[in-house]
Amino acid sequence: SLESAVRRGDASASSCRRFSSDSTPERKVAILGAAGGIGQPLALLMKLNPLVSSLALYDIAGTPGVAADVSHINTRAEVAGYAGDEQLGKALEGSDVVIIPAGVPRKPGMTRDDLFNINAGIVKSLCTAISKYCPNAVVNMISNPVNSTVPIASEVFKKAGTYNERRLFGVTTLDVVRAKTFYAGKAKVPVAGVNVPVVGGHAGITILPLFSQATPASNDLSDEDIKALTKRTQDGGTEVVEAKAGKGSATLSMAYAGAIFADACLKGLNGVPDVVECSFVQSSITELPFFASKVRLGKNGVEEVLGLGPLSDFEKEGLEKLKPELKASIEKGIKFAQEN
Ligand code: NAD
Ligand code: LMR
Repeated sequence: SLESAVRRGDASASSCRRFSSDSTPERKVAILGAAGGIGQPLALLMKLNPLVSSLALYDIAGTPGVAADVSHINTRAEVAGYAGDEQLGKALEGSDVVIIPAGVPRKPGMTRDDLFNINAGIVKSLCTAISKYCPNAVVNMISNPVNSTVPIASEVFKKAGTYNERRLFGVTTLDVVRAKTFYAGKAKVPVAGVNVPVVGGHAGITILPLFSQATPASNDLSDEDIKALTKRTQDGGTEVVEAKAGKGSATLSMAYAGAIFADACLKGLNGVPDVVECSFVQSSITELPFFASKVRLGKNGVEEVLGLGPLSDFEKEGLEKLKPELKASIEKGIKFAQEN
């Protein structure tokens, strides 16, 4: 796994490289927004991933420097930097996975939806290029508001005639990462073995961690504890935005989460069985057209959208409460893409 590749460090990463280039397929990953707060550490983590043979780093500016820097790391991936519109096509051509952390982050006092006006246009233009240069790539959407940017991407792809619902993912892995960390701390269990599904969307109350399904189960947590853990997970992004006090939002933990999710997509494409992550995808498990839940990943991207499983009364209530907001954010994205 990526986690163990990072932990093993350089020496065995290079033996992995020799092994990988013989036995694992060539895979190109493109990062759009690669010079940004998330983009740079994500570029680093993807350079450490032995499943990546080619890493394209694209931004409006600054990517030649990031690419030169990362390219000196002695791991498998060949790195290239691309800057500006005229190089976007080259960056995308042949990509298997495109990760999009392009766009502005929040400042204190803002909601993710406050980013819509700027980021919707950025996502639309990047997705238009994806449909032209790598229409079959798996897309990992990180740019906020994810609850709207994923529907925007779907509409752009539909207009271009390239939409494949199995290849479009909103990255909600950071919610899972946080839920695991907070749960382990509260339940006093080793974090490495913890799993917590997080469903719904990626903003405020639309983030619904299912602590009733957390493993290992804990009998020590009261209803109040679960409520507090739920709220902390929902407000995790805001916690970081406030601590950074105007200097942006989560970047390092997001790069980690983005690297975990992209690694899962690559494993799926390579035919590794039983790869399951939570993600915001086209879905029919509720009445909403997009919804985050556990998804089984495979050679085609989404192989199966898994159901919600049994919910506690508290979670059932949370599910009903989140639907109107999530529905409105999805519709806002669709409307934007249809009208622009
Ligand atoms: P940042 O401002 O540090 O970096 C964004 C980068 O995007 C910049 O380098 C900028 O030049 C680039 N960019 C802008 N327009 C572009 C375009 N048209 N093409 C290519 N690149 C372009 O911001 P950040 O902290 O890296 O956050 C990026 C986005 O990720 C924000 O929208 C933020 O809200 C979101 N985010 C999502 C999650 C999540 O869980 N899904 C977590 C954290 C942040
Ligand atoms: C997060 O959850 O950290 C991101 O969505 C960034 C934000 O604005 O909170």
